[in-house]
Amino acid sequence: MHEVKAVVAKAKGEPVSLETILVPDPGPGEALVQVQACGVCHTDLHYREGGINDEFPFLLGHEAAGVVEAVGEGVTTVAPGDFVVLNWRAVCGDCRACDRGEPQYCFATHNATQKMTLADGTPLSPALGIGAFAEKTLVAAGQCTKVDPEARPAAVGLLGCGVMAGIGAAMNTGNVSRGDVVAVIGCGGVGVAAIAGAALAGAGTIIAVDIDAGKLEAATKLGATHTVNSSETDAVEAIKAIAGAAAGHRGADGADVVIDAVGRPETWKQAFYARDLAGTVVLVGVPTPDMTIPEIPLIDVFGRGGSLKSSWYGDCLPSRDFPMLVDLYRQGRLDLDAFVTEEIAIDGVEAAFERMHQGDVLRSVVVL
Ligand SMILES: NC(=O)c1ccc[n+]([C@@H]2O[C@H](COP(=O)([O-])OP(=O)(O)OC[C@H]3O[C@@H](n4cnc5c(N)ncnc54)[C@H](O)[C@@H]3O)[C@@H](O)[C@H]2O)c1
Ligand SMILES: [Zn+2]
Ligand SMILES: [Zn+2]
Repeated sequence: MHEVKAVVAKAKGEPVSLETILVPDPGPGEALVQVQACGVCHTDLHYREGGINDEFPFLLGHEAAGVVEAVGEGVTTVAPGDFVVLNWRAVCGDCRACDRGEPQYCFATHNATQKMTLADGTPLSPALGIGAFAEKTLVAAGQCTKVDPEARPAAVGLLGCGVMAGIGAAMNTGNVSRGDVVAVIGCGGVGVAAIAGAALAGAGTIIAVDIDAGKLEAATKLGATHTVNSSETDAVEAIKAIAGAAAGHRGADGADVVIDAVGRPETWKQAFYARDLAGTVVLVGVPTPDMTIPEIPLIDVFGRGGSLKSSWYGDCLPSRDFPMLVDLYRQGRLDLDAFVTEEIAIDGVEAAFERMHQGDVLRSVVVL
């Protein structure tokens, strides 16, 4: 058993607190990881606000890199000393999705079996089965993806959630192709990653949409060719105009792929109407349980064709995608450092939520 400091959300809407928690030694199939860096994702805030479920207390943090300290019985995929990025898609290899060769849709992903607890024994719910705002965390061995140990932990840890979700929303779910017109609504860590993913996939025109001018600046640095401040301009009309101009004489009535990286009814509706006929909408922002699909005439759903998709974790397969993206980072083709606005201490998470709200950061990263 290990006694470590960790960030816990004890009750709905209450500020998070730094607690001493108990982390068991790894049992069969588990790995104990010494966390080196963990990004602050909007999903952590969703947990704290009770927007995911009510299983408080939560052990927050889930975009992490670190070093394996110990492994349990039967673990062969990682060993002590390995540098790993933690993932929340440790595929089972056995369910219907895995069986038919689509493990990115695995229905039975693995997490640690043993519980981490508060000092008084109260079991913790680790965010996304990880819980890495902690000096050490216990995960299923399959949640550890080995990557190049030369990489900077604060940067590559972000592949563990938001950056992978964004890149994958463009490359995997949206299937962005060379020359496409892509629009991304919401340019936080996830949205800007979708922009970087669209650029990697060869999109010709990439339109960044946000209500915050500062975010649009960051989006431009990571590959946006056009920006739309939707607090001043109608997002749908602006995207259509840019897409129309990009298509030249062929004409276009919107973008080929529109990614909603906010996850609200109004942004999803903008995405729906800002895409070209037969275009694709990708919802990667996470709505809260009270939100419903906005009223849209069914004839518009039919008449516009195309596809309406949602993207869990960018439909990624960590063992395939993390090492590949770390290689692109090491080659200077994917600027993961640009996502790290600031490195903070473990007691700075609550303040980082505040800055996230104010739109000051792409990612605050806790460095341990
Ligand atoms: N699907 C997944 O697997 C997955 C993974 C990680 C995060 N997420 C979700 O993605 C979303 C974004 O996460 P993030 O960490 O980038 O959050 P963030 O808070 O850093 O960014 C959100 C951005 O949206 C902008 N925004 C807010 N309202 C807007 C509006 N009406 N129109 C345009 N822009 C608006 C904000 O200014 C901000 O730049 C969250 O809902 C998060 O839970 C999903
Ligand atoms: Zn499976
Ligand atoms: Zn996340």
